[in-house]
Amino acid sequence: MLVNLTFYYGKILTCAIILMFLGSDKMQKPNMIEAQKRGHLKTKVLTNDYNIPSDMQSYGVNKKYYIETYGCQMNVHDSEAVKAILEDMSFTNTKDLSAADLIIINTCAIRENAHNKVFGKLGQLKNLKKNNPNIMIGLCGCMAQEEVVIDLLFKKYQWLDFVFGTHNIYKLPFILKEAITKGELVVEVWSKEGNIIENIPFKRDSNYKAWVNIMYGCDNFCTYCIVPYVRGRQRSRRPNYIMDEVQELIKAGYKEITLLGQNVNSYGRDFIDQNYDFADLLTDISKTDIDRIRFVTSNPWDFTDKMIEVIKNNKNIMPYIHLPIQSGSNKILKLMGRRYTKEDYIELFNKIKSNIKNVSISTDIIVGFPGETEEDFQETLALVNELKFDFAFTFVYSPREGTAAIKLKDNVSEDEKKERLYQLNKLINKYALANNQKYLLQTVKVLIEKQDVKTGLLTGYTETNKLTYCKGDLSDIGKIVLVQINKVKTWSLYGERNF
Ligand code: SAH
Ligand code: SF4
Ligand code: F3S
Repeated sequence: MLVNLTFYYGKILTCAIILMFLGSDKMQKPNMIEAQKRGHLKTKVLTNDYNIPSDMQSYGVNKKYYIETYGCQMNVHDSEAVKAILEDMSFTNTKDLSAADLIIINTCAIRENAHNKVFGKLGQLKNLKKNNPNIMIGLCGCMAQEEVVIDLLFKKYQWLDFVFGTHNIYKLPFILKEAITKGELVVEVWSKEGNIIENIPFKRDSNYKAWVNIMYGCDNFCTYCIVPYVRGRQRSRRPNYIMDEVQELIKAGYKEITLLGQNVNSYGRDFIDQNYDFADLLTDISKTDIDRIRFVTSNPWDFTDKMIEVIKNNKNIMPYIHLPIQSGSNKILKLMGRRYTKEDYIELFNKIKSNIKNVSISTDIIVGFPGETEEDFQETLALVNELKFDFAFTFVYSPREGTAAIKLKDNVSEDEKKERLYQLNKLINKYALANNQKYLLQTVKVLIEKQDVKTGLLTGYTETNKLTYCKGDLSDIGKIVLVQINKVKTWSLYGERNF
């Protein structure tokens, strides 16, 4: 079932709110319970559904857009779609907020502080709008999919012009047209979407590295996580469309692609007419001329031996794996709904390390999950001491409305959480530096991306995803070059270009 939730709001504010809370059909809001329902609907692949009404094709002539993006790579890539759609309407990009005629904020809902940043930004934008009511301001992304956020926008942010969700980015030209013609806040957020739109354009931020969606949504429902609600059920793109996109990128001179999915390991599991999994996709992509293949994110619970074999045997699949552990305590992992134990993780980690030469492994860790005792936390530290990750993203648990964990008693004090994060980061940094020290005097391959403004040095990433700085010529940008490392820091390597 496709639920199309369209709100119009403005002059008839009081009336609209009353109707909304009375549950009128017209005035529905994104519904977390609806969003949670997973059906066995066949995913439709639509190849013509993105289009622009003829009167919107030149709407953006002499107009500038500004976009600000919060959150993960998926949002960054979605913003690349928003940019292309706006440019198809003849808008041009500006990095200067005050020069913009149209402003879009692409939001993230993963933790409370992501919310706070966006609401802070909206405060600033309200003043801009007050001074110049002609500026159009829109909000999109994961926060737009949250019921509580839409309620708040209705109550306090009526000055916004339009809001759209993660499932209907391709409808932006129509939503914008509606907002312009009605002169009222237009909110169009779908709770569910079963389709994959294959003709969405992208204005990519880089000419050398590209994000490639291989799937949308997530069905895992880790108890702390809002993503399955705001991104919908898992829908894998058909391999032929992914392969076509990769071929186009190669033709356009791209050197590196990163395959995107909330859990790439489960790619293809939703296909009902073929057996084709992530290892098959990696194998097929590795046969192309692309120099570097990366992927995020891999869930430890379904990382197969077949995947390890494929990564090990193909030089253009980069030896870098982001493998979130979340906690070192089995009790907490269970409460989090992660379907592996600490022992399973360690076994997988060691298998990857012993099979894939020079592989680097990073992780995500949450501290202060409800019920996490000092002993549980010590288990996490012990695990970090044992595995010595190359890098980790560390977070304090943030309760999210609508998730299962919100019902658990959050019994770790704020001070305790902060202290645990501090202790954990100290350890993570120690091993990040120790891992980097292994690179001293080694020669590594770096895809040079740009010149660093501060130092004037060229920067790029090694095959193992280490940020590297070196002296060199601007003509090196976009090339994979050899760099001999002569200095290391916790988060970066420094070296000399090796000819
Ligand atoms: N799909 C990825 C994770 C995407 S979210 C995976 O399963 O690995 C990125 C990270 O944010 C998660 O790995 C987790 O560590 C963190 N995170 C998610 N929800 C959170 C919450 N409610 N509080 C704190 N951190 C959270
Ligand atoms: Fe969230 Fe878990 Fe899905 Fe990752 S796998 S997006 S943590 S529910
Ligand atoms: Fe945030 Fe949405 Fe990504 S919640 S982390 S932007 S999928």
